[in-house]
Amino acid sequence: MEFEITSGKPQSQRTACVVVAVAEGGRLPPAAAALDSASGGAIRAALRHGDLPDEAGALLWLYDLPGVRAPRVLLVSQGPAERWNEAAWRQMIQAAARAVDRGGARHAVSYLPEVAPKARDWRWRLRQAVALSAEAVYRFDRMKSEVESPEHPLERITFGVDRADREAAARGLAEGRAVAAGQRLARDLGNLPANVCTPAYLAEQAVALADEHASLAATVLDEQAMEELGMGALLAVARGSAQPPRLVALSHRGADPEQAPIALVGKGITFDTGGISIKPSQDMDEMKFDMCGAASVLGTLKTCALLRLPLNVVGVLAAAENMPGSRASRPGDIVTTLSGKTVEILNTDAEGRLVLCDALTWVQREHAPAEIVDIATLTGACIIALGHHPSGLLANDEALAERLLQAGETSGDRAWRLPLWDDYQEQLKSNFADVANIGGRPAGTITAACFLWRFIEDERPWAHLDIAGTAWKSGKEKGATGRPVPLLTQYLLDRAGD
Ligand code: BES
Ligand code: MN
Ligand code: ZN
Repeated sequence: MEFEITSGKPQSQRTACVVVAVAEGGRLPPAAAALDSASGGAIRAALRHGDLPDEAGALLWLYDLPGVRAPRVLLVSQGPAERWNEAAWRQMIQAAARAVDRGGARHAVSYLPEVAPKARDWRWRLRQAVALSAEAVYRFDRMKSEVESPEHPLERITFGVDRADREAAARGLAEGRAVAAGQRLARDLGNLPANVCTPAYLAEQAVALADEHASLAATVLDEQAMEELGMGALLAVARGSAQPPRLVALSHRGADPEQAPIALVGKGITFDTGGISIKPSQDMDEMKFDMCGAASVLGTLKTCALLRLPLNVVGVLAAAENMPGSRASRPGDIVTTLSGKTVEILNTDAEGRLVLCDALTWVQREHAPAEIVDIATLTGACIIALGHHPSGLLANDEALAERLLQAGETSGDRAWRLPLWDDYQEQLKSNFADVANIGGRPAGTITAACFLWRFIEDERPWAHLDIAGTAWKSGKEKGATGRPVPLLTQYLLDRAGD
């Protein structure tokens, strides 16, 4: 899908479809008013019948209006004024993109950015409009022998922009395209089945990305290299599987090499059976999504490269498959991590923290990052606590937590903070090792974060995003969401400081 901007009038657009907003009570924002006067009042006349519900994102198609070059006009309701907010605007953008896509048009011109909440500038408007539209029309049919896309010929959406706002809008357009590309990569990788998307496959994708972009460089550690370094926790997870693990570092160099990078560390369990502490078979197919943290790291690095972001960023993928093979670890096994700390594996299904602890130690020693964010589909408990709307956020640093929360609000890809208090640490006591890998039923998301926290050295600023509830959707719309690529990208854009 391609995106563009135009400063032309809505009535003169040479396109299959023009999209305009309608406010509460049939009040017409500038683009709809322009169409109305060009057509001698055809918009107001159509609205008199009350066919456009007063709900944000409700739609009404109009055809062959006099004085309007495009054969179709799509009216999109802003909904009731008292409920008007950013979320309602996002809903309009996505409803319109889906409708235009299903309507069979090749191209549409949308004037919805003009009604975005006033506090938001045109850079934000275009970044959001582009990323959200791309998200709304995404399809994954790579594994289908018969592709359904001939029914979906939409190739391009052009957004209407006032001449005075062109520069800001063009910047937002570029950012929106880059976010869309990163998010799409994360979704594609998430949606691929575990027999295709193995740890080695993830590593190959990182290498391919580095080949494509001059700012990116990839390093891949195989099982033997990890053995030599002593990554006993990551290796213990991988041992039950025929698929060998990989630790991948993908660096974006956008600033002075002296500048300490920001590290993004992603959980990349390409399939989580639970291991010997095996999961119930119901819905186990969804555990192919257990690498979505790693996928979001790859996607975000792609976005960084496309934007030539003036920052150093290192992405780390901790990739392994959690299977109950004959060499799998058993409940009660004790392993020595790269940090030297010993871990008692009381539950082999708490494997995410095992791969992440070695990756965290490795990135701190190898790259001395200024701050670290890890991203993981870590705990079912996070879904119980927060549902599927925000990602869980835990952090040892107030400023970093605040930046991530803010980036979530700005991008609409939100997070909600849970307490990371020392009080919870005692739940991780082991009778036999330095730490246990589970902390019992209470506050499962927090004790998982407490486990990771033990591997953060020198009080380095660190945050953990638990994306168990947000990385994919179940049910009829089953599929990866590409979250939190929008949040991470916004955080890095803010960090780049402009
Ligand atoms: N990948 C799962 C977490 C998960 C489960 C995410 C369901 C999304 C949906 C993780 O590896 C896991 O199994 N966690 C356990 C931890 C427990 C054994 C302490 C869990 O949440 O049950
Ligand atoms: Mn698990
Ligand atoms: Zn898992």
